[in-house]
Amino acid sequence: MIKSIQVNELQIGMYIIIPGTWMDHPFTRSQFRIKNQKQIRMMQEHGLYQLKVDLSKSNLPKDYPATEAAVPEPPDKPEQVAVEPQAKWNPETLVPAALMDAITDKKMNPATKAKAVYKNSLDMMTRLLESPKADNIHAGKDAIKSITNLILSDDNTAYNMLRITSHDLYTYTHSVNVGITAIMLAKDLFRNSDNHDLEELGAGFFLHDLGKVYIDSQIINKPGRLTDEEMNQIRTHPYQGYKMLKEANALSDECKYIVLQHHEVYDGTGYPNHLIGDEIHDYGRICCLADVFEALTAERSYKRPIPRFDALKLMRDEMPKHFNREMLNTFIMLFK
Ligand SMILES: [Fe+2]
Ligand SMILES: [Fe+2]
Repeated sequence: MIKSIQVNELQIGMYIIIPGTWMDHPFTRSQFRIKNQKQIRMMQEHGLYQLKVDLSKSNLPKDYPATEAAVPEPPDKPEQVAVEPQAKWNPETLVPAALMDAITDKKMNPATKAKAVYKNSLDMMTRLLESPKADNIHAGKDAIKSITNLILSDDNTAYNMLRITSHDLYTYTHSVNVGITAIMLAKDLFRNSDNHDLEELGAGFFLHDLGKVYIDSQIINKPGRLTDEEMNQIRTHPYQGYKMLKEANALSDECKYIVLQHHEVYDGTGYPNHLIGDEIHDYGRICCLADVFEALTAERSYKRPIPRFDALKLMRDEMPKHFNREMLNTFIMLFK
C-alpha cells in the first residue's frame, strides 16, 4: 500500500518513493528504504516536502497506522516568493538605467563610478529578490556579467567598490558584497588561466543566496539561537537556489557549484551534502570564503560587525579547518 507522507513524518525503515527525477534530489535512487537519520536530514535539507511511502516494503512497527492520513497539499510556491502575475519587476524595469550608464561611462572617475555601480547593484539585487521569476533571473545575470567585466578590467574602480561596501541586515547587500569580493578573489586566483568563465562565476557569486527568497526573513534575521526546525529551513536555501536557476534555464556549471556548495566546509561539517576537502569545487570554496568574511564583517540583528582586519585574523587563526590555506592567503592580500 502506498501512503502520502510529509518529510517531518519520515522514520527509519520506511521504503520511500521520492517524486521527480534523480536530478531533483541528492540520492542515487528515487526509491529506497531509509537506513539512518542522516538520510532523513538530507531530505529535509533538500527541501523535499511530500513523499510516498510503500508500506508493503517498509520495516515499521506493527502499530504504524496503515490508513491514508489527510495530508495538506504543499503550496506551489512559498508565500513570500513573487509569482509571475503579481511580480513587481520585469526585465525592462529590473536593471536601473543608471547602472549600465555608470558601467559604460569612460569619463567617470573611479570613485564616482564605484559609488554609482555599487548603489545601483544593490537596487538591482533588491528587485531581483523581490521578483525572482525566470526572465528577471536572465536579465539580472546579464547585468551581473557587465558588473563582473568592470571589476575584471578596471582595478581602480574595483578597489574603490571593495572599500565602500556597506553592511546591513539585508540579503541583497550581502549578495552584492559577496559578489564583489568573490570576483576579485577569483580574478587573482585564475589570473594565469583561460579555463574559467569569469562572467558565469560572477553571476553565481551574486546569486549564491537566491534560494533565501524561500525562507521567512524573520528566521534569517532572528536574534539569538535558531531552533533545529529553523536551522533545517535555512539549510534548504542552497538547493532551492539551484532549483530556481535550473527551472529558469539559467544554470551553468559555475552557478551550480557555487549555489549548491557555498555552505560546504573543508572539514565536512557544512551543508547540504557534507562534502569534505577536494570534494568541494574551487568555485564553491571561493564563495564560502567571501560569504564567511561578509557574515563576520556585517551587522546582524544578533551581533555587531567585526572590523575587517579582525575578521581576516579570526579566519586565519581560529578557523584552520574551514578554508584552503593558499586561497585564504590570496583573499587576505585583497585587503592589504
Ligand atoms: Fe548561503
Ligand atoms: Fe551568503
